[in-house]
Amino acid sequence: MFNVDKDCDTFLYRQVIDLINENINAGTLLPGDRLPSLRKMSRVSGVSIPTVRQAYVELERQRRVESRPKSGFFVRHRSGNDIVHPTQTAGAEPSRLVCRPLMERVYDGINNPDLVPLGIANPCMARPASKALHRTMKRVIARAEDRSLGYASTQGEPGLRRQITYHYLDTIGVQVEPDDICITNGGQEALLLALKAVAGPGDVIAVETPTYHGLLELIDGLGMLAVEVETCPEQGITLGELRRTLNEHDVRACMFSTTLGNPLGVTMAEENRRKLLQLIRKHDVVLIEDDVYGDLRFDGQRPVPAQFLGSGARVMTCGSFSKTAAPGYRIGWVVSDGQSTSDIARLKRAFSCSSGFLQQLTLAEFLSSGEYSRHLTVLRGVLRQNAERMRALVARHFPPETRTSRPVGGSVLWLELPEGVNACELFDDAVEAGISICPGQIFSPCPCYSNFIRLSFGHPWDDRTEQSLQWLGERVAQLKYAGAG
Ligand SMILES: Cc1ncc(COP(=O)(O)O)c(C=O)c1O
Repeated sequence: MFNVDKDCDTFLYRQVIDLINENINAGTLLPGDRLPSLRKMSRVSGVSIPTVRQAYVELERQRRVESRPKSGFFVRHRSGNDIVHPTQTAGAEPSRLVCRPLMERVYDGINNPDLVPLGIANPCMARPASKALHRTMKRVIARAEDRSLGYASTQGEPGLRRQITYHYLDTIGVQVEPDDICITNGGQEALLLALKAVAGPGDVIAVETPTYHGLLELIDGLGMLAVEVETCPEQGITLGELRRTLNEHDVRACMFSTTLGNPLGVTMAEENRRKLLQLIRKHDVVLIEDDVYGDLRFDGQRPVPAQFLGSGARVMTCGSFSKTAAPGYRIGWVVSDGQSTSDIARLKRAFSCSSGFLQQLTLAEFLSSGEYSRHLTVLRGVLRQNAERMRALVARHFPPETRTSRPVGGSVLWLELPEGVNACELFDDAVEAGISICPGQIFSPCPCYSNFIRLSFGHPWDDRTEQSLQWLGERVAQLKYAGAG
């Protein structure tokens, strides 16, 4: 694959450049892939190391590759895919959930283990920490013996709450009181408790658009109404639109992910988050921050949840280990705003008594041993590479009008398909072909996003992933022509 011809007139470093370019164009080397090291390239091509270096430096100058300190040279993104436009929400009215039957079908697809899992957002499966967690759990069982079968306290094990506070201190330099944390059954229960503590049936809750479908189901399930606020794939919530929504509607709470959202994978700039806090304070609205993805920014720069920006606004933060360690453990938490601490504990007791004791002890030890931090570093690197590969394959196989998000973290890509392509039809065809995807309609309470899909790159990358993306791109092209005809 990397042979040069020493008898040819072309300079050797030029031939190395051509070889790399050919491999990039053929898809043998994908964006995010590491080029062979200088030494290895020299050995396989028979060209000296300085000549290989000259070629790599020239490729970097041409912006085909980038060098990363102490890591080597990597293939850069293609600029093929345009970014999705924000969806305007002027005139949006509070609404119940319309797409419930579709949601049921999508969950059937997501939970089917025989399908290629491009539908489920399960980032930690890109690089599971199973061995370390199993080892830790065994140690915990040996030590706790019968105690490990018992109930945990309602608010959660003090050791785990303490470790969560250390994690905040370590990653964002913020001191959180363990007593303000309540351990929950995953992020979903954290969102439920926070919402129940501040709102009731008939209340209006502002959400980003598009937003996480589980949030919409929760709001609807509690008899509340969701009103959408325009969210830009590169900036996050559009503050002017939020202001308009708060002026026009009697919003009780906002449920946003300002640190890292699903499905757009966007982080709001800190300056804008501060402005958002001023707005919600002025309107006396509570912010419930869904921060379950906050630790998964590719660059490791953990954004500070809005609650800790010191604004005087009422904010609660919902976290989880589902995206980073083990969704099956069902361990999340809510950091209450002081005013709601006892309400949250009371609601937790009423709904589920407490969360799994053994899982809490295991995670506490996983964090305290430093293994969690090391695991996160590796996981973020894998997710970043998967994101780059997926964007490159979408650029290669999907029709050129396709637009994609540019996630700065997490595990999903949001795609705007050519107009006229129906995401539900694509979803049904994909399931038949053995692939699960998420149609865009479930990310809004109203019938919207009919030509959008969400694809997950949170799984080990393999040939099936690549073949599925090619299949999806070709099917989208057929649906586009069928729609036009
Ligand atoms: C944005 C977001 N929030 C919350 C959750 C719920 O997390 P958990 O599995 O911890 O309940 C999910 C899960 O998909 C999610 O994507």
